[in-house]
Amino acid sequence: MADQASVAAAGASQPFAAENVATNAVASLAISNATDNKIVDTETPVAPVPAETLAAAVTDVPAHRSHDPTNNAKRTDPFMFGQRFLTQEDDVFEYNAWDHVETDDAFKEYSEKQYELQRSSPVSDFDKSRFNGDPAKWWNLFYKNNTANFFKDRKWLHQEFPILTQICEPDAGPKTILEIGAGAGNTAFPILARNKNPLLRIHACDFSKTAVDVMRKDEGYDTKHMQADVWDVAGTGDESMPPGLGPASVDVAILVFIFSALSPSQWKQAVENVARLVKPGGTVCFRDYGRGDLAQVRFRKGRYLEENFYIRGDGTRVYFFEKDELVKIWTGKPEPAADGEVPDEEEKKEASAEEAETFFTEDNAPFTLEDMGVDRRLIVNRAMKLKMYRCWLQGRFRRK
Ligand SMILES: C[S@@+](CC[C@H](N)C(=O)[O-])C[C@H]1O[C@@H](n2cnc3c(N)ncnc32)[C@H](O)[C@@H]1O
Repeated sequence: MADQASVAAAGASQPFAAENVATNAVASLAISNATDNKIVDTETPVAPVPAETLAAAVTDVPAHRSHDPTNNAKRTDPFMFGQRFLTQEDDVFEYNAWDHVETDDAFKEYSEKQYELQRSSPVSDFDKSRFNGDPAKWWNLFYKNNTANFFKDRKWLHQEFPILTQICEPDAGPKTILEIGAGAGNTAFPILARNKNPLLRIHACDFSKTAVDVMRKDEGYDTKHMQADVWDVAGTGDESMPPGLGPASVDVAILVFIFSALSPSQWKQAVENVARLVKPGGTVCFRDYGRGDLAQVRFRKGRYLEENFYIRGDGTRVYFFEKDELVKIWTGKPEPAADGEVPDEEEKKEASAEEAETFFTEDNAPFTLEDMGVDRRLIVNRAMKLKMYRCWLQGRFRRK
C-alpha cells in the first residue's frame, strides 16, 4: 500500500525548477516545435507510464518514492491524476512523466512571449469566415485523412468516471449514454466492449458525417446497443436534438475533447441542448484542454482566432479553458474577481450584456458542479531532454 502521507508531503513541496533545467525547457520547446510535431500535437491524454516500463526503469536507476512501483502499481482514484510527484531530490529526466507539475518560470515567460506573437498576427477576416462558416467540413476532411486509430482508445474513462462502470453492470437496467463529438468512436467502442448490461444504449453523435460513417463501418458497431448519428451539439430549432432521443432521455452524456472545438458563441446553446436531453439527476462527464497546455503555447503566427481560440493547420478549431470559466459555462457560478479589480458601472453593463449571451446565471443554469479537476502532467523525452507541460480539465456536472 502506498505511503499516502509521504506522497502527499512530497506533492506539497515545491516542484523542482533549477535554472539549468528551466533553460533546457525553453530550448527544448523550440526543438520540439521544429522537429517533431507529433510529440506535442496530440489530442490524446497521455496514459500513465505502464507498470512494466516503470519496473524496467527502476532496474537502471534508484527508484524515487513517487515513482516506486509500490506507490504506482495501482492507478489512482478518480480526479486524483496520478502520484508521480516531482520533488527537489528528483532528476526530472529520470522518468518519462510526472504528475501535478506547475510550469516553471522559464516556461511561463516563453508562454507569454508566444501569446504576444499569436495575438500580433491573427487569422485574417477572410480565413475566419472560411473556418467558422462550416467547421464540420474541416472535421470531415480530418477524418478523411486520418484513420479510425488516430485517437487512442479512451480506456481511462471508466477509471475517471465510475458511473460508466456502474451503468454497464448486468443488472443496471435500461440506461442511455449520449456521446457528443464521438469522432471515430474511441470512447463508445471501448464502453461497448466492456458492457454487460443487456439494456444499455449508446448514442454516439458527431457533426462530421465522415466520422459517423467511420463508426458505422467499424466491426464493433452493434446496432443492438449503439446508434451513430450526425448531430451538431450547437444546433438550433429542429436540429437541437439528435435523431432517436427525446427530452430527458439520457442518463450520462460524455463530452471528450469536443467542447474545445466550439466557438465561445456556441457554448450556451450547446449546454442548453445537452441539458434538454439529460434526465434530472443525470451526469455529464467532461474532459478537454486546459489553458497553457503546450498545444496552446506552441501555436505560431496566423493561428489566433480570438483569445485562447485557434485554428489548427488542418482547419479544425481549438479552445483552451480555464477551470473557473468551465464551471461558469456549465453551472453559471461566477468566476472569482481578480484581486483589486473593480469594474466601473459602464464596463459592468457591457460585460453583463455580453455575458448573458455566453453564460447562464447560477439561477438559470441547468447543471450543478460535482467535480472539476486540473490534470497537469510533465511529459519528458529523456533521450532528447525535452520537457512538455500538458494541461487538461476534467469535470462532472449534474442535471438539476
Ligand atoms: C478532438 S475530436 C474528439 C473526438 C472524440 N471525442 C475522441 O475523444 O476521440 C473532436 C470531435 O468533435 C466533433 N465536433 C466538433 N464540433 C462539433 C459540434 N458542434 N457538434 C458535434 N460534434 C462536433 C468533431 O467532428 C470531432 O470528431
